[in-house]
Amino acid sequence: MLTDHLSADVLACAPQLEFVSSMSVGVDHVDVPALTGRGIPLGNTPGVLVDTTADLAFALLLAAARRVPEADNFVRQGNWSEHNAWSPEFFTGKDVSGATLGLVGLGAIGEAVARRATGFGMNVLAWNRTPRPVANVRNVSLDDLLARSDFVSIHVALAPDTRNLISAARIAQMKPGAVLVNTARGGIVDENALAEALRSEHLYAAGVDVFEREPLTADNPLLELSNVVLAPHIGSATQRTRARMADLAVDNALAALADQPMPNCVNPGVYKS
Ligand code: DGY
Repeated sequence: MLTDHLSADVLACAPQLEFVSSMSVGVDHVDVPALTGRGIPLGNTPGVLVDTTADLAFALLLAAARRVPEADNFVRQGNWSEHNAWSPEFFTGKDVSGATLGLVGLGAIGEAVARRATGFGMNVLAWNRTPRPVANVRNVSLDDLLARSDFVSIHVALAPDTRNLISAARIAQMKPGAVLVNTARGGIVDENALAEALRSEHLYAAGVDVFEREPLTADNPLLELSNVVLAPHIGSATQRTRARMADLAVDNALAALADQPMPNCVNPGVYKS
């Protein structure tokens, strides 16, 4: 599971380890070079969670723009009364249709979010290390994307070169009043800088499913803010998708037990040696 942190030290304690099958697409919880150095294959579960994760990214985008959790809380707390039943500015949020969405990363999940955004009448920009032709998406530089997007959604993997990619300086580059959505990995966005930008209202809102430390610790500054929608790493959490991920993880394990190459192997070079 992605909660099992297989560092080089942990792996060194398992001298007889023959393979690792992770029920996740992301493998940032595993020291892949340490495994590869020992010729140990690592399996993952790509492909099956693309649409499910894109749905959550869009759910967070809509919820943050239209203040859905805040409104739900308002009603449940009994704050909706005769005195404030409706007024022109009551619970006004941000329009999604006609707005510009910037996708940081245009892999399969970014592309699936672009399809949803097009259906909602959004203009879609994307930054990808290698620009990709995708219908209705304009490839731009990261600077350009941050300056022009009303909504920014993160879809890159966590790797040494994406750690802190959305730093304080990059958050400052974002359009005032923009919304940030992260369903990729904590560690890509500077959480303290994000909290500060939300507090100062440089950013209008955020939707966050993934965090630097999971589960969230009580001192996380995002917990105090009402303009952030929080979720507990549930991007792939539908029954069908989790069953598919489990099937892929088992297929990888069965192949490894039979001394066959894993069908989804992160470091297939180990089979060549
Ligand atoms: C993964 O598989 O890496 C996802 O983060 C799980 O939701």
